[in-house]
Amino acid sequence: MDHGALRVIIVGAGYVGLVTGACLAAIGHDVTVVDHDRPRIDGLIAGRIPIFEPGLAELVAQQAGAGRLRFAEDLAGHVCGADAIFICVGTPPRPSDGHADMAQVMAAAGDIARNLTGFAAIVVKSTVPVGTGDEVEALVRTIRPGTDVAVVSNPEFLREGVAIGDFMRPDRIVVGTADPRAGALMAALYRPLTDAGAPLLHTSRRASELIKYAANSFLALKITYINEIANLCEEIGADVGDVARGIGLDPRIGERFLKAGPGFGGSCFPKDLLALMKTAQDHGVPLRSVETAVAVNDARKGEMVRKIVRAADGSVAGKTIALLGLTFKAGTDDMRSSAALVVLPQLQRQGARIVAFDPAGMANAAPLLPGVAMADSAMAALAGADVAVILTEWDEFAARSRGGRDGDAPAGTRRPAQPPRTRGGHSRRLHLPIHRPTPAGRRAPAPRKCSRIARPALSWHFLDLFPLGHEPGHPVRQTAASAEKP
Ligand SMILES: NC(=O)c1ccc[n+]([C@@H]2O[C@H](COP(=O)([O-])OP(=O)(O)OC[C@H]3O[C@@H](n4cnc5c(N)ncnc54)[C@H](O)[C@@H]3O)[C@@H](O)[C@H]2O)c1
Repeated sequence: MDHGALRVIIVGAGYVGLVTGACLAAIGHDVTVVDHDRPRIDGLIAGRIPIFEPGLAELVAQQAGAGRLRFAEDLAGHVCGADAIFICVGTPPRPSDGHADMAQVMAAAGDIARNLTGFAAIVVKSTVPVGTGDEVEALVRTIRPGTDVAVVSNPEFLREGVAIGDFMRPDRIVVGTADPRAGALMAALYRPLTDAGAPLLHTSRRASELIKYAANSFLALKITYINEIANLCEEIGADVGDVARGIGLDPRIGERFLKAGPGFGGSCFPKDLLALMKTAQDHGVPLRSVETAVAVNDARKGEMVRKIVRAADGSVAGKTIALLGLTFKAGTDDMRSSAALVVLPQLQRQGARIVAFDPAGMANAAPLLPGVAMADSAMAALAGADVAVILTEWDEFAARSRGGRDGDAPAGTRRPAQPPRTRGGHSRRLHLPIHRPTPAGRRAPAPRKCSRIARPALSWHFLDLFPLGHEPGHPVRQTAASAEKP
């Protein structure tokens, strides 16, 4: 096997396909990314990136400029001579039963089969149920009997928002195949990363398919566990941040994925847990822990609503709620299974008026959240609000809590006084530009007092109340929920 540049086709120009394509080009391969969404491909050819992913636009421009990365609307004419063809299409939950919908994967596999000319590895990077590799292989052999092909499972573990770093410095690369040629080809493909220290794990195709689901489920269990502990903390007056740190310092547990919040969401965890749950049920070995995590996570959104209602003195009817952060986590424009999609409609049904702001997700969020007023900035969202909720922990909502200086404050803003320490001793300073600009650059009045709201419900990291003199007699209450997300 030649250890040099390989010819790679990527089917699907979404989060995974674009990042995979740009990164494989960056490590020296010759890559064509194909997507049947014509406007998407036209935009990419014109240099427009359809998703928000830090660093991706620069990397795509650089690799396209270097001639290693191209875009095309269909596979015809591109498959000939390819060493590896990656399937990076969506696997959403099937509305009827929660199983992963394989329609896009099988359509892509059929397209590939019809265009195959010689040996190539078909690499399934989409997250797919155990046995999908067998089905893809059977389909290819039906369409092209006698064809020389290897179907490989190579699940992707990147996280949106830090996807390029995750791809280039992975914790592990998993390759599932029993075909030695395909195994060697995949090793050659990833050699620049493995030479830099990334571990490559060769497994059976089925084990590889399960690894992805099992990993996501385990992380979701961790989040769910700390959210349940947070519920208990709120009742007994303990700070869940302290508890998480106290247990997370045990290396057998670890600190990651122990940030309480409104529950997990996003493009992967909810659908992957559901799919694993269904697969396990179908095989007669139900995964009770995963089933419970799904139920607890759903209930957590309702908890969130109840907290906000409590922060609004028992009723949100006729009140204005400023909602900061709409995407399922910070660092992405992805709204899939975002907590906002559950929490906001519930508040609206209770009579609240919602004014929202998100640094990257406004365009995707607006059509999904009818009746929500979208503000131009966090500051504009907060103007006149009765309660402020930070739903997604974007840095810019808390940036100044990490060592910012007064001088950093935007015009017309001011740093709040030292925030109160909560009963559990945990407090985190939050510096939002939430003051209205005052005439002639005068500083807003100092806060008259700081007090807690909603008991020490410290699963929310910014749960301190700053009656900010926002409007005399009309304090903004600020509460927050955020969680470490996939
Ligand atoms: N988004 C993530 O963070 C992430 C991380 C790891 C794994 N995954 C998994 O990777 C897969 C892809 O996820 P995504 O978020 O990139 O999806 P996405 O929906 O953002 O992108 C999928 C793309 O595939 C295109 N497509 C669908 N069928 C096609 C076909 N037959 N031919 C050409 N193009 C086609 C669509 O037009 C779309 O642009 C899913 O299985 C997902 O679970 C996602």
